[in-house]
Amino acid sequence: MDRIIINGGINLNGRVKVSAAKNSVLPIIAASLLCPDECFLEDVPFLDDVEVICSVLDSIGASINVIKGLNKISIKADNINSTEPPYDLVRKMRASFLVMGPLLSRFGRVKISLPGGCNIGTRPIDLHLKGLSALGAEVSLGHGYVEAICNKLKGCKIYLDFPSVGATENIIMAAVLADGETTIQNAAEEPEVVDLSNFLNSMGANIVGAGTDTIKILGVKDLKGTTHQVIPDRIEAGTYMAAAAITQGDVFVENVILEHVRPVIAKLQEAGVTVIEGQNKVRVISRGLPRAVDIKTMPYPGFPTDMQAQFMALMSIARGTSIITETVFENRFMHITELKRMGADIKVDGRSAVVEGRNRLTGAKVKATDLRAGASLVLAGLVAEGITEVFDIHHLDRGYVDIVGKLRGLGAKIDRVGE
Ligand code: EPU
Repeated sequence: MDRIIINGGINLNGRVKVSAAKNSVLPIIAASLLCPDECFLEDVPFLDDVEVICSVLDSIGASINVIKGLNKISIKADNINSTEPPYDLVRKMRASFLVMGPLLSRFGRVKISLPGGCNIGTRPIDLHLKGLSALGAEVSLGHGYVEAICNKLKGCKIYLDFPSVGATENIIMAAVLADGETTIQNAAEEPEVVDLSNFLNSMGANIVGAGTDTIKILGVKDLKGTTHQVIPDRIEAGTYMAAAAITQGDVFVENVILEHVRPVIAKLQEAGVTVIEGQNKVRVISRGLPRAVDIKTMPYPGFPTDMQAQFMALMSIARGTSIITETVFENRFMHITELKRMGADIKVDGRSAVVEGRNRLTGAKVKATDLRAGASLVLAGLVAEGITEVFDIHHLDRGYVDIVGKLRGLGAKIDRVGE
């Protein structure tokens, strides 16, 4: 198993280009199942999770054509021979569940293994199933699988008890080919939902309101092939902004949609970090230790849960005490034990973590427990005295394109080594 080795204490400087959003491209690839024509995606980040969703599509008969050098893929779902993606692939990634809406909508049936809990929480899928049932599907659970069948889905009103990103996406994908109009109330407003809706609209769907809490989908008869450019990854952008801040660096983070990183900019500024906004880029300058700030994760446009771990690393070296509250996932504090091994002073009180800033962290052997936990340990390693070794970095490969190369490009002393 590879690991990342960091010799901390270098101020990062220079420019880093953000790749396209993992959490956009996954549902968009799943949505390509909705029509038999070829769909072309540009700026695809070649991450492990992207490989998994492509394998899921491939396993049921879709043809995937990858042009890695040009960061493009095309998907043609004209020969789907199964609506039951195999357990061995689906279990690798929760987001595999996103094929449910498209398969049900286009072929009238789908059977897929239930996703288990994961390192950040139990993560039920009740809202996805509630939505599909409301659209008229017969949903049954048994032997670890969920099966849904329908003749033709019918538009309806769906209120989500929580603005779940995945449930909103699955319901949109199911509703685009349904009879009549579907309204999703308390829908997720995340930019990735908007990107998916733009992709679907360019295929001929009729979706309005994506990006607000009420989304209306007027079903259409069929969809056609399209070409789509995936939006930049706001969490990757935020991670490099935090990297600049934690190392007291001066970094231009390029290929950023400013609107998507507003909460991260606001919190960095509150912490005393200078953020200069440019055209599709931000410059983050930090001189001295940040001030402690409180953070509460919320659905978009609130502070993203996917940036909580990275900000906890930053707050570990802040002046003062910070209270970080996680409201989206019930168990997203696994990085704390590892940050404490590096000298961080953090106490957990229910869904909040109290971080007493220390003016230094010390390098240690630590392990990534999930994707963003891994990013937070890399950030901590960049500022820690001495050597940090981050193990279990397969989690990082799921969501960061070449994090080692990009940080090295900013001057970090960081390497990836095999066993
Ligand atoms: N939830 C339910 N029932 C459901 C669905 C969700 O109770 O049917 C709960 C979850 O258990 C969780 C909360 O609602 O506590 C939020 O879950 P949501 O459905 O919004 O998350 P998701 O769609 O499973 C996506 C991202 C996550 C990101 C969350 C929140 C993808 C592929 N994943 O997950 O990304 O944290 O939205 O913004 O889009 C990551 O990139 O590291 C990551 C975990």
